[in-house]
Amino acid sequence: MRLATLFKFTSASIILILTLAVTALFALIVTGCQALVGSPESQLGGDMPNRLVIPPVLEPTSASGDRKRFDLTLQSGRTRLPDGETVQTWGANGNYLGPTLMLDSGDKVTVRTLNQLPEPTTIHWHGMALDGLADGGPHRIIRSGAALPASWTVEQPASTLWYHPHPHNKTTEHVNQGIAGLVIVQDEKSRSLPLPRKYGVDDIPLIIQDRKINNRGEFELSRPFGNIVGPLGDRIHVNGTPTPFHEVEDDLVRLRLLNGSVARTYRLHFDDNREFNLIGSDSGLLRNPHRLNSLQLSPGERAEIVVSVKSDETFRLRSSGVELGMGFPMDRLNGASDQFDIVEFRAQSSLRSNSSVPTELIPREALDPSKAVKSRQFELDSFSRINGREMNMNRVDAKIGLGDKEIWEIRNRSSTFHNFHIHMVHFEVLDIDGKKPPPELQGLKDTVAILPNQTVRLIMKFTHPATTSAPFMFHCHLLAHEDAGMMGQFTVQ
Ligand code: C2O
Ligand code: CU
Ligand code: CU
Repeated sequence: MRLATLFKFTSASIILILTLAVTALFALIVTGCQALVGSPESQLGGDMPNRLVIPPVLEPTSASGDRKRFDLTLQSGRTRLPDGETVQTWGANGNYLGPTLMLDSGDKVTVRTLNQLPEPTTIHWHGMALDGLADGGPHRIIRSGAALPASWTVEQPASTLWYHPHPHNKTTEHVNQGIAGLVIVQDEKSRSLPLPRKYGVDDIPLIIQDRKINNRGEFELSRPFGNIVGPLGDRIHVNGTPTPFHEVEDDLVRLRLLNGSVARTYRLHFDDNREFNLIGSDSGLLRNPHRLNSLQLSPGERAEIVVSVKSDETFRLRSSGVELGMGFPMDRLNGASDQFDIVEFRAQSSLRSNSSVPTELIPREALDPSKAVKSRQFELDSFSRINGREMNMNRVDAKIGLGDKEIWEIRNRSSTFHNFHIHMVHFEVLDIDGKKPPPELQGLKDTVAILPNQTVRLIMKFTHPATTSAPFMFHCHLLAHEDAGMMGQFTVQ
């Protein structure tokens, strides 16, 4: 063999081997990355055979004088899901989730909570304007076997609120076990509007939660590689029902949406992308309805929407296309690319036509920033600190004057998605990175999403007192962050 031939042969082989090696390496990198990033959950188009459970309305045990008294019993048990699976769950007045409290503006209310769970917990009234003692934060522990009453007067407009446990460092676990319920506040003004309001018929509560069930039949908290928002489930329960449908008898349906998940954010829209009217946010009805075809809700946030329905049609509420602002691959690793069908609506062949969406809902004057007596700054880090400090039950982070208006500037100084919730108050979003908030954030709220490096300014009035024995909380409502320490306390007096 001549030297030149050998050389040719060798260089050809080298090129071949190199090409193969590069291809193999490339394939390895691609599959490696895919494995690392995980394939997003996609559960669209499957059967939705289970009738949506509507949480029962809790009747007062007595209405002595002008006070409505309610009893809540926290308990654990086994729940058989409609698809046959049995899960270990916690609930209030039942084994899984809890009843809906219907309150009227002006009501005097006492809720006595009996804890029959194996461990101490608390019940927090998320979104309720009440005194620190009734608020049910981490200082208001109810020991196992004990009962604690909370009393307040409803002094806020019609809105959709919720209750959930709030024990220090254990909120994720206790909410994940299944304790949560709705509070619907009504008032004269909201009753005079022609909006749908037959509970469970054309006014439908939707408590949206992702779940993961392990092979021991327990709700599991799992955080795969790259998870920074907190545990994500791989299936959706709505009011505790997996893959639910709801039969529609009216041509307008109001949905009271609650993201009751411990960490997952949803972008809700209909499968045909039909428009709907947003009529309310966390703390009540908007001034005017606002037309949208999708709406993002982070944990703890609520929205009320009204959607038009045609006879005989079937359509679904879905979640997809979530934006957490963390970029690739972090958004995807934290559930942003996941897609779920939430609930299927099945319209009957003849629909009632009893309600409408007026162009004016609730007039409300904006809080005047020039009346704010103080401006405070809060900086969120990646996982566990506000202004550089982790939550300390014995430290008060802000002392606020009763009746004061303040501006709070919340800055997310990290590349992690967060949100921010403040107990007792209803705030207005003044601006986001200096710009006017979008219409869906122009109502009264108590929880707001804050993307990486975003700054959100809020204005609010502190209307109810709290002392050091039971202060109010502010925190990230991604519950793993809250439990890790991303929470602070304030008194109002
Ligand atoms: Cu819904 Cu302090 O929480
Ligand atoms: Cu709260
Ligand atoms: Cu957070």
